[in-house]
Amino acid sequence: MSKKGLKIATIGGGSSYTPELVEGFIKRYDSLPISELWLLDIPEGEEKLTIVGNLAKRMVEEAGVPMTIHLTLDREKALQDADFVTTQFRVGLLDARAKDERIPLKYDVIGQETNGPGGLFKGLRTIPVILDIIKDMERLCPHAWLINFTNPAGMVTEAIYRHSNWRKVVGLCNVPVGIKMGVAKALDVEADRIHVDFAGLNHMVYGMDVYLDGKCVTEDVINKITSGDSSMTMKNIVDIGWEPGFLKALNMLPCPYHRYYYKTSDMLAEEKKNAAEEGTRAEVVQQLEKELFELYKDETLRTKPEQLEKRGGAYYSDAACNLIDSIYNDRGDIQPVNTLNKGAIGSIPDDSAVEVNCIITKDGPKPLAVGDLPVSVRGLVQQIKSFERIAAEAAVSGDYDQALLAMTINPLVSSDTTAKLILDEMLEAHKEYLPQFQ
Ligand code: G6P
Repeated sequence: MSKKGLKIATIGGGSSYTPELVEGFIKRYDSLPISELWLLDIPEGEEKLTIVGNLAKRMVEEAGVPMTIHLTLDREKALQDADFVTTQFRVGLLDARAKDERIPLKYDVIGQETNGPGGLFKGLRTIPVILDIIKDMERLCPHAWLINFTNPAGMVTEAIYRHSNWRKVVGLCNVPVGIKMGVAKALDVEADRIHVDFAGLNHMVYGMDVYLDGKCVTEDVINKITSGDSSMTMKNIVDIGWEPGFLKALNMLPCPYHRYYYKTSDMLAEEKKNAAEEGTRAEVVQQLEKELFELYKDETLRTKPEQLEKRGGAYYSDAACNLIDSIYNDRGDIQPVNTLNKGAIGSIPDDSAVEVNCIITKDGPKPLAVGDLPVSVRGLVQQIKSFERIAAEAAVSGDYDQALLAMTINPLVSSDTTAKLILDEMLEAHKEYLPQFQ
């Protein structure tokens, strides 16, 4: 990697989140000199790419940094000699997410885009595409790092390790940084005084211990949560309070997505109510996106608009840019990312992807040892790992029975017959994006 003039390629560059990323790169320009940012999208996304790309150009101009923004539909050009490739695409766009969320609800099952049947189908659509991108990277930018944000990020990372030879990959999520910022807010202190020991899987990560200036404050933070502090929630997940006794006994911070597993019936009721009243999250986001893109069109807008904060991806930019900065500058700092376990978490196979604190170096993440997960959560985490692994196999093989197995072992699905009904309806609804099952 040259020390001057980095090239970044962003796949799914027409995403409404792109201004987050651009803002992060601008802020860090002095330590992360990106000379070319290539925003790549597919023909269906061209209009959005043009709008958000022009905003990116205005942001860079306003900041006065010598970064050239390229907009393209040509993957070869975008990937050629890239130093980092970031992925934030959504196969089938938000319409597919809406189906992921709505169809399972008919069967009284939570339809979420990363957990349960929704997560399975997003994985089935996404994994073949990411493996195809990797084939191009092997040819066009064999030394690049792949920073994957595309959901389900844990399952996608698992699939890359198991079904390709590409090793320069990091799966990334904004949930850990969101929790850390939430803790800082709840304790009313600066975020850099907080350290959280994260361990688990993507959207299944626990804050094992929390420290303020090096002193363990886990119990204090749990007390804050049980007394109704909602700083640690996310815009896209309904904030239903936790049973105090449960959290005290758990003695770790759950992530917002844990509500789907520990409060399944309450969350199902909420999702059904929301779907009937205002639409599923995808449908709400479709409306939000329309508003965002209208704003982005405004030629006087030259910075990231505040409205973007209504999306679940807050701190996306910090997570992605800090990671790239630390790899590029070999910083050796600690960041929670999705990477190969290599024995860090005792209860998960060494060759599986986990989300865990890592030391970030020029050679990528080095996971920090955690030991076995507490017995209270070990089984659930292992079950989700099995789900991710079997789902990834189904995504690659297109094997119907494997997909049925993945759907049935997901803890949000209560029987194999229900799993089959949902699977059949979703395979039909998404068939355009699932050629491997035809
Ligand atoms: C959180 C999750 C992301 C997810 C996002 C959805 O940030 O960590 O994985 O993509 O929420 O937000 P949205 O606004 O699209 O519902």
